[in-house]
Amino acid sequence: MITKFNHVAIAVKNIESAAELYKNILGAEVSKICNYPNHGVSVVFVKLSNTKIELMQPLGKDSPIENFLQKNQNGGIHHICLEVKDIFTVRDKLLENGVKILGNEEPKIGAHNKPVLFLHPKDFNGTLIELEQE
Ligand code: CO
Repeated sequence: MITKFNHVAIAVKNIESAAELYKNILGAEVSKICNYPNHGVSVVFVKLSNTKIELMQPLGKDSPIENFLQKNQNGGIHHICLEVKDIFTVRDKLLENGVKILGNEEPKIGAHNKPVLFLHPKDFNGTLIELEQE
């Protein structure tokens, strides 16, 4: 049911300095800073030939990654994103198998304008997984 690796997301305290690090030291191509007020994050995409890294900094007071940064003072890997062909079929199968889906279990439009769901880390070996429709 999962088909491709889409991205790894890293929570950072300072998105400018994080982006500079990837650009200037590692020589990567990085995007401009994109603000997603609805998701409570500012994001920079580090573009690699086979995948991407998303650097995320909290945006606004109720950012969903604020708590994570409190617990991980240096920042850290926040989630991985895997692609699926049909997010509703996958969602139903996960629910049948007792996997907890965050929020109201309905796919939301994510940062790439595609439907996404997040799976509770307790059901996936401590890893927060984002599923994105291809
Ligand atoms: Co993501």
